[in-house]
Amino acid sequence: MFWRSLSILAIVPLGLATPLAPRWEDVRVKHSWKTVPQNWECEGSAPEGTTIDLRIALKPHREEALVEALYEVSDPAHPKYGAHLSKAEVAALVAPHPDTHELVHSWLAHHGIPSSSVSTTHGGDWLTVSNVPVSQADALLGASYQVYRHAETDDTLLRTVGYSLPAALHDHVAVVAPTTYFGGPRALRKTLHPSPNAKLLPDGDALIRAEIAALEAIHGPGSAASVPSSCKSTVTPACLRALYNTTSYTPAATSKNVLGIAGYLEQYASHSDLTTFLNKFRSDAKSAAFTVTTVNGGLDDQSNPGDEANLDIQYAESISYPTPNIYYSTGGSPPFIADENTPTNTNEPYLDWLDFLFEQSTIPQTISTSYGDDEQSVPADYAQSVCSLFAKLGAQGVTVLFSSGDSGVGDGCTSNDGSNKSMFMPSFPATCPYVTSVGGTTGVNPEKAASLSSGGFSNYFARPSYQDSAVSSFLTSIGTEYSGLYNASGRGFPDIAAQAENFQVVISGSVTSVDGTSCASPTAAAVISLLNDYLLSQGKPTLGFLNPLLYSTGAAGLNDITSGSNPGCNTKGFTAVKGWDPVTGLGTPDFGKLQAIVG
Ligand SMILES: *[C@@H]1O[C@H](CO)[C@@H](O)[C@H](O)[C@H]1NC(C)=O
Ligand SMILES: *[C@@H]1O[C@H](CO)[C@@H](O)[C@H](O)[C@H]1NC(C)=O
Ligand SMILES: *[C@@H]1O[C@H](CO)[C@@H](O)[C@H](O)[C@H]1NC(C)=O
Repeated sequence: MFWRSLSILAIVPLGLATPLAPRWEDVRVKHSWKTVPQNWECEGSAPEGTTIDLRIALKPHREEALVEALYEVSDPAHPKYGAHLSKAEVAALVAPHPDTHELVHSWLAHHGIPSSSVSTTHGGDWLTVSNVPVSQADALLGASYQVYRHAETDDTLLRTVGYSLPAALHDHVAVVAPTTYFGGPRALRKTLHPSPNAKLLPDGDALIRAEIAALEAIHGPGSAASVPSSCKSTVTPACLRALYNTTSYTPAATSKNVLGIAGYLEQYASHSDLTTFLNKFRSDAKSAAFTVTTVNGGLDDQSNPGDEANLDIQYAESISYPTPNIYYSTGGSPPFIADENTPTNTNEPYLDWLDFLFEQSTIPQTISTSYGDDEQSVPADYAQSVCSLFAKLGAQGVTVLFSSGDSGVGDGCTSNDGSNKSMFMPSFPATCPYVTSVGGTTGVNPEKAASLSSGGFSNYFARPSYQDSAVSSFLTSIGTEYSGLYNASGRGFPDIAAQAENFQVVISGSVTSVDGTSCASPTAAAVISLLNDYLLSQGKPTLGFLNPLLYSTGAAGLNDITSGSNPGCNTKGFTAVKGWDPVTGLGTPDFGKLQAIVG
């Protein structure tokens, strides 16, 4: 197809290359669900006068340019390793062809949308069309926007089950949002459980710390034998710092290095709970404070601390101290008020947060996010566009980590393509090949896979070459087991893992215990942030996109996890084995060893 149009172009005289106005009536479906997504119920049309802001992702002129540049600067074997790109360089790489802008603007004009309501973001590869009346959006996109209510959460949204674009635009537009993505960030933490396996330590971990000191006196700091066995049932910062070998490192680039935590869902991180937590569990860091950046109407309600937010910030701070931490509170899921004629919030929290981040003059070098959703609930065109935004962050030298999910190989394991076929349920954004996805472990000496740890294979993203050899070895080892339930050519996840059970957390003043890969992502991110601190203190570039390093020279700096499994979908799930596996990835970080590898 591409070849044919090239050869036609070659024989058409230049002046005739764009002779005809496109036939805007010739539309093709861009994305459509077979049925209304599960748990959403239609409440009818939006009230008269409702408007929405539409975001249009434009395809880059050269589709592969960004990813090629990303791999060059992220592959330790490439001469350009570490030569991260500026914001302007990245914007140039993803710039659409000038014809794309012209076509899209003439399509909008054809529908009576003035160019004054169109603005560009991300340096020109996304357009925002503001205040579009719903009836006009319906006409523009061959859509039927309706108000939908979620049966369990009661959230309401304005969405359409399908949308179309003129055939002439399909090669130019990657996605339009909000359209068919009904989900939103979902926190990846299991329910809080103030027992049964966990031992609560309301008064702090003085005993654990004494035990570590005694073991270190015998075995030396940084020895696996210095991690006490009580860390099996009670995880505290002291356990993690001993286990991941960060205890003896003193950060030295705290004027430059920053660790970011992305938060959604009206989750607020409490300053006073952090102080209480540090007094109990890391008193030398009790002065640590984080800053809150609110994005798109996000709030910072200190009287209403969130378990996810507190968990993330308490572990990020206590491991990375004294590295500055930023907590991003992104709004964007307000209830859709069906009886007010106000513009609806477009309600695309990832995009709101990413828009904000790309506008900043500096971005934290390491960012952890503990939210995700079943990949199949995210339209493929939307997932691909958001994943490209993570690639842009990586190209600019930012390490982006996501928790892998808490459902093993999945729950609710039925495909939503109309066939109702049984399948494992990968989780997005963990399946985006340009993020580092963090699974879960539990126990010490040895660390094992946590059974909740989500892992598997993407149905949207092909296996990237950096993990070809690691993933092929695993697939060979399992033969035909589970064949048909997962996509053997898809991107395998997670990439790494960290502890994910029995974390002591302070919420509203009291100690409670939590499980989930939400524990693992900020823990791994804090360790990576310390590596970035070390590199910056040496005048070296930051790690940026980690995976090409992890799957090559970096693997020797990880503790391979070789037991445990991630049951789900009425199966025993995958089993952690030597080398990479879709339960714990390549293993858990050893700061001391990684420092020697990257330094
Ligand atoms: C799939 O499941 C839905 C809901 O249970 C049902 O309505 C539909 O008929 C099923 N489709 C097939 C092909 O079995
Ligand atoms: C499996 O993954 C490949 C690569 O991403 C994709 O093209 C294919 O559609 C996927 N298959 C299924 C059944 O999802
Ligand atoms: C911890 O890091 C040190 C280097 O700082 C290294 O010598 C040691 O082997 C590491 N400990 C473990 C248990 O790997």
